[in-house]
Amino acid sequence: MNAKYPLIFLGSDHGGRELRWQIRDRLISLGYPVDDSLSIDTEEMTDYPDVAHAVARAIQRNSGALGILLCGSGIGMSIAANRHAGIRAALCTTEYHAKLSRQHNFANVLCLGARLTGADLAWEIVDTFLHTAASSVERHERRVNKIDTEY
Ligand code: RB5
Repeated sequence: MNAKYPLIFLGSDHGGRELRWQIRDRLISLGYPVDDSLSIDTEEMTDYPDVAHAVARAIQRNSGALGILLCGSGIGMSIAANRHAGIRAALCTTEYHAKLSRQHNFANVLCLGARLTGADLAWEIVDTFLHTAASSVERHERRVNKIDTEY
């Protein structure tokens, strides 16, 4: 893995495809290692859970990796990704969501709704997500450990 930047797995259904391409190109231009191989880029509609599960499994196999998932609303991707152990997927519509999802919730997957969030704001959310570290305050770690407990 690139020492400077985390490996980022990207994924979308048809609803998030164009925004995914824009984000992918921008990340690559900045030097991020990106794996954009897990989506199904046909002319057809695709099922968001297939991609969410693939990205979640890829992150489980690659310690320290992050994910960015896009669908029309971001909701389906976040629900599906969060079924996987160790995946904390946050649907963000503001930079503040992105900041808190990293600081307080240690999110490792960012979900975006491409039909709701424009390209400029989406990039600001991505940028904030990637540049915010987890808080070292004990209570946040304690709470995340409680999230990660399997019931
Ligand atoms: C596809 O029409 C749409 O359902 C999907 O992109 C997403 O919004 C689901 O949550």
